[in-house]
Formats: sequence, C-alpha cells, structure tokens
Amino acid sequence: MSYENAWLAYQKKPPTADAAYFSSLYVEGDHRVIATAREELLRAAREMFGKDMILCENREEATISFIWDRMAKTGEEGYHVREDNGKITITSEGPKGILYGCFACIRWVKMEKPFAGMDLLEKPSNPIRILNHWDNMDGSIERGYSGKSFFFRDEKVLVNERTRAYARMIASVGINASVINNVNVKGNATRLIDPVYQEELVQMAEIFADYGIRLYFSLNFAAPMELGGLSTADPQDEQVQSWWQEKMKDVFRRIPNLGGFLVKADSEGRPGPFTYGRTHADGANMLARAVEPYGGIIIWRCFVYNCQQDWRDKKTDRARSGYDNFMPLDGTFLDNVILQIKNGPMDFQVREPVSPLLGGLTKTNQMLEVQIAQEYTGQQRHVCYLIPMFREVLEHRTYCSNEQDTVADIISGRTFHQTNCGMAAVANTGDDENWTGHDLAAANLYGFGRLSFDTDLSSEAIAKEWIACTFGTDPEVMEKIEAILMMSWPAYEKYTSPLGIGWMVNPGFHYGPNVDGYEYDRWGTYHRADHLGIGVDRTSHGTGYAQQYREPLSSQYESLEKCPEELLLFFHHVSYTYRLKTGKTLIQHIYDTHFEGAEDVEKMAELWDSLEGKIPEKSFERVQNRFAHQMDHSKEWRDQINSYFYRKSFLEDEKHRTIY
Ligand code: GCU
Repeated sequence: MSYENAWLAYQKKPPTADAAYFSSLYVEGDHRVIATAREELLRAAREMFGKDMILCENREEATISFIWDRMAKTGEEGYHVREDNGKITITSEGPKGILYGCFACIRWVKMEKPFAGMDLLEKPSNPIRILNHWDNMDGSIERGYSGKSFFFRDEKVLVNERTRAYARMIASVGINASVINNVNVKGNATRLIDPVYQEELVQMAEIFADYGIRLYFSLNFAAPMELGGLSTADPQDEQVQSWWQEKMKDVFRRIPNLGGFLVKADSEGRPGPFTYGRTHADGANMLARAVEPYGGIIIWRCFVYNCQQDWRDKKTDRARSGYDNFMPLDGTFLDNVILQIKNGPMDFQVREPVSPLLGGLTKTNQMLEVQIAQEYTGQQRHVCYLIPMFREVLEHRTYCSNEQDTVADIISGRTFHQTNCGMAAVANTGDDENWTGHDLAAANLYGFGRLSFDTDLSSEAIAKEWIACTFGTDPEVMEKIEAILMMSWPAYEKYTSPLGIGWMVNPGFHYGPNVDGYEYDRWGTYHRADHLGIGVDRTSHGTGYAQQYREPLSSQYESLEKCPEELLLFFHHVSYTYRLKTGKTLIQHIYDTHFEGAEDVEKMAELWDSLEGKIPEKSFERVQNRFAHQMDHSKEWRDQINSYFYRKSFLEDEKHRTIY
C-alpha cells in the first residue's frame, strides 16, 4: 500500500538565500548512521532546492560539515549546529547526534528560519525514547486506528520500503527504539525469538540500525513452556533460567542491534511470576540476568491489576494496584530492568491523576508510558492533540526529593542519577496512506518524539513545528491548525466523562458514550453515580488511594476543597448540588461543559473548512470527513451524558437547553 511522507514530505522551495548552504558537504567520521545523515541531507537538498550537493574532501570548501568529534560535549545523541560565515557545522560526540542535527537543519528550512547566526545546542532529555507497537502477527493491531500493521501480515514479518520510511520518520524526531509486537504476546509472536523469522528480523534490525533505532520485542513469559516444552516458567527454576540464558545468547547472536524486551506479565490474563508464587522482581531479574551479557534491557510493565473484580466491592480499587504491587519491590530490581509506568493509575483516560508510582519509587529505573494511539480519546476519528496532556504529566511535582522532583526529572534520570530510563508511547501508526488515519493525529506521533527528546518544548512550539513541516508556513494555516490542535484535548474532555471520572465508553472497543457500560463489570472501572451524586471515594474513608501520594499531594487529593477540580470525581463522591470554584453546581458544570464541548467541535470544523484550497486536497477532505463524524459523535456524547445525569438527578439545566 502506498504511503505519504508526513512531515518529511519535501516541497520544492522558491530560491532563497538558504539554498546556498545546500551546495556542498564535508563528512568527518565513518559510520552507518552518519552515512544515513549524508543521504538524508542530499535528498532534502535535491527535493527542496533541486540541488545535487557536492561531496568535498576538505572542510574548508564545504558549506555544510558533519563533524563526529568525541570531545564535542554534546553527548552521543546531542548535537551542536552552528552557522558561521555562510557555513554550517553539525558537531556531535556520536553518529546519532549528527543524524538528529541534520534533521534539525531540515526542520529549520521547512520552518523558514534563517540560518544566519544559528547556534543550536540540543541534548536529549531522555536516554530511551521508544515506541510500543501493539501489532499482531496476523496483521491486526490491538487498539489500531489507522489500518493494518506494516510489520506483520499473515503470520509473516514484513520488510519493505515502508520499513525504511518508518525508520526515517521516527528518527527524524529523535525516537531511538521501537518494540514492534503487541505486549499481549500470543501464537507466533512468541516465536519472534526463534530462528524462524530470523531473515526478515535481521533485515529490519539493519534498517533500524541505519537510523540509530534499537529493535525491541515484547516477550511471552511462558515461552519456556510454549517453545521449550518445559513444564513450568517459574523464574526460580534452574531449567527455566538456563532455557532463557540459552535463548538470549542465541537471539542476541542472530539479531544485531537488538535492544531488549518489553514484558507484560500477570496482567489481563498474561502469564507471569505470580503463578509460581514469585514476585515481579524475581521474574524481571531472571530475564535481566539472561540479557545482561549482551547489554540487553528488560522493560517490565507495571500495568498489573485484578481484572476479575466485583463491582459490589467498594474497597478494592484498580487505581491502587500498580503501587500496591510494585512499591514493596523498590530497590530489588537489577540495573538493566526498567519499570514502565502508565501516566495514570487506570488506563489512558482523557484525565487521570499522575500515577503515584512515579516518584513513589526512588531506587528503581522508571519509564513513563503514554498512549498516542487514541484508544480512549477518540480513536483517531476525533482530533485530540495529546501533547498538552503529556506536558502536564511531565511537569507534575512528585515531592520525592527537594529538587528535581518532577516526572520529567525522574524519567530523564536527573533525580536518581539513572541512565536506563525514558519515555514510551503506545504507537498510533498503521498502513493507512497517511500513517495515522486522522491526518491531525500525526501531530501526536511527531510530538511524542520531539517532546521525549526535549521535555522543555511547549505544546504550542511542537504544534508549530509540525504544522510548518507538514502543511507549510502560510500564517493563516499555521494559526488555524494550531488553534484546532490546542482546543482539541480540552474539547474532548468537556464532552466525554466529567471531572476525571473516566470510562463511560462502550465495553470492549472503547468507543462512543455508554455511561453504565463498565459500571457493573469486572474491570474495576466505576463511576458510582446515584440520584444524589457521582464519583469514587478514594480518600482514607474510601479506597485509600489518595494516601499513596507523598505530601502535600495526598492531603490535597484527600480534601474535597483542595482537590484539583479536574480530578474531583476521581477522588471524591460528590453531590450534584455541590458548588465548584466557579460558583456553578456540579450538575450545571456537567451540562455546561457538554454543550461547550460539542460547540468547540463545530468551531474546530469551521476553522478547518476555512482552509480549503490551502491544504492538499486529499488531506483536506480526509480531515473534513472526520470532523463531520466528530460533530455528530460529540453531540451523541453530549446528549447521552446530559440526559443520563438529568434523569438520575431530576435537576433542571439553568439555561433550559434541550436535554432528553
Ligand atoms: C488496555 C487496552 C488493552 C491493552 C492494555 C495494556 O487495557 O485496552 O488492549 O492490552 O491496556 O496496556 O496492556
């Protein structure tokens, strides 16, 4: 299936002063990633300026130079781009830094920033910046909203020109690792570590290596039984341990550039150490020992909870489970284990508090997991720019230390002086022509890369870059699309479930309003609405979840008055007549935000319509169609939620709008 080049599509530029820089290139340093950088620069020069850059033997003659200098003080992946006297130098301590610096220059051109006087020193905030693809071997994608997998089809591994297109796209925004298969490892996916898929996987690993991307697989904890024929997968069993050691020796020998493995264990039916009465540290450390000789990493997910809950039981709380399971193990994981923690304690809802594990753990490597696949945020049929949400998470103070205590500090390794840490995103790509289904969802893929590389970038700055690189720099286009993106997450939050309560979606596929969809189910996802009020009491009178935070957070969340209002119903059961800080009652707030949210969608759609003729036609139409759906669907949300609460509470809307 054909594909577009997203933000790397190069349009011919009118001749400008900048074109002169793209005349000749000098390359110092021999490395496959530097060779990639050279090819990328040559391609950009050809496609944007119609110029074939001359390769020079010495630096003085060249207009652009790549200098791999181990003394450059940029770190391996950082870069220093300087313009001086009509010449640009890209310097880095490592080849990847050169590649990233090269893409920074291309971005500069696309944003029409002048090169004269450019002096840009960038170092990545996070050591690991990784995508998690939930792709299955049959070609389907768990929570995929943009077509089928481009990694797998019909139980085979795919390697084709799209593999390279993918690698260059994600490398261009600084992503340096990718897990290609679903965390729920079943069937043939278990055999990715067997020789059967060797040939294709090696090819893929090589392509990734050209772009400085480490290949990772999700692992099946029960592989010793399923592949090895053992009767157990007990991490304390010697046969199991040596099975893994042999397997890892073999797989690291066969597949170059393998970074390690991601593991979902004892979660939603997946096998894990609990079966054998062992802890997650026992499980993770066993694997960590097996991969350690090859520099391998084990990324172990903390998404562990009881998914067989009884809705009648008001003490068991899914939100507590990550902390309850992993805090007692703090300090017991080996150094090549990283715990991967979802941003919130539940599951990627439009609003959740930050997981108390982030900043709870102080002696364990931590990685933040976010989801750019819009499972609960409109499934790439609604526009929902998630970077502002991720920024809030990154800026959140955990109080785990007197200074440098934000989530961004922790996962970058600054707080606890760690190097195995970073940021992961559940990917939103598929084989759709535009990669992400909704054209505007590409801003989340771009944005995740840029934000994980530089956690200080603002959401607006990232939006501007992405728009300029994708649609060009016409001020009207820039302004209107930025407005759409920045409105989109708040709008989505307004017309879906209120004030941090979450869920209220159709069970299973998680799309569309269904207030009681999960209310009497086993998944631990309840809103507890009755005729007087709504919300889950997670204070010490309720489930006690608020107590998992450090002070002053736990007192804040514990108190009805001090609790941040956007999280009110996550922490408290609140009466519909309770007055919020705005002076509105809770019920009035619910009605108002739902009307507003649906109106915001109309505004966004109007803004988009007004760009007709300024956006490539295909893209314009695709987004317009999705907006038509979003307008209808946001009204469906509005009316179902408002009617539900009106019928429960019998309280009239002060503004007497139509509620059914
Ligand atoms: C969610 C999602 C699942 C996924 C799981 C996970 O529950 O709905 O499809 O497998 O998260 O993160 O492991």
